Amino acid sequence: MTTNKETKTNIFNNTNDPSEFFIRTCSSEDLDEVIEVNEKELPEDYPYFFYKSILDDFPECFLVAQNKHGKIIAYIMWRVEKAPSANSLKYINKAHLVSIAVSEGYRRKGVAKSLLANSMTAIKKYKIHEYVLEVRVSNYTAIRLYEKFNYKIESIKKNYYRDGENAYFMTLDVNDY
Ligand code: ACO
Ligand code: ZN
Repeated sequence: MTTNKETKTNIFNNTNDPSEFFIRTCSSEDLDEVIEVNEKELPEDYPYFFYKSILDDFPECFLVAQNKHGKIIAYIMWRVEKAPSANSLKYINKAHLVSIAVSEGYRRKGVAKSLLANSMTAIKKYKIHEYVLEVRVSNYTAIRLYEKFNYKIESIKKNYYRDGENAYFMTLDVNDY
């Protein structure tokens, strides 16, 4: 809660600077706003229970960004999956980036970089071997973002999206972050 004094100061100093944001872990009360951001910014939508189960299972790496009024303007969510490693029959833990989105008016201010950096550190507690993700081959902006973190294109998944678009499967070894 903000006190009256703080509220007054905020209004007085209101510069309408949209660059102020604050990163924190998501809570179940945030999910409706997270879903709102997702539905505006990405064609891949998920039912409520999908978000809820990811939040229940991997809460440390489900992060949101809020603006100074407390409105959710971005989110990132991950899950940990067991998968065979590329070069042996052993099963390893992979951190799979399920979804990230930043509201249009808050882009290019480092929100995504901050969400990625914080969640990639947090998810290391699950003893993961690598980070993996899929991204539309046309999503230049997101691909640039992942390349900044040294993700490399490992393969193309044909017809990955419902509209038929291909995905790049990008990976990063945990030791390279
Ligand atoms: N053009 C080129 N590169 C860009 C752009 C752009 N318009 N925007 C971001 N980048 C790259 C740059 O390398 C940038 O670093 P720099 O500013 O130092 O040059 C880097 O990404 C990080 O920029 P941020 O400001 O942290 O990124 P932002 O907060 O704007 O969010 C995001 C990037 C998440 C891709 C945003 O554009 C978005 O929400 N897009 C729609 C949703 C989406 O495509 N999500 C990813 C789908 S794939 C998946 O979820 C697994
Ligand atoms: Zn995926």
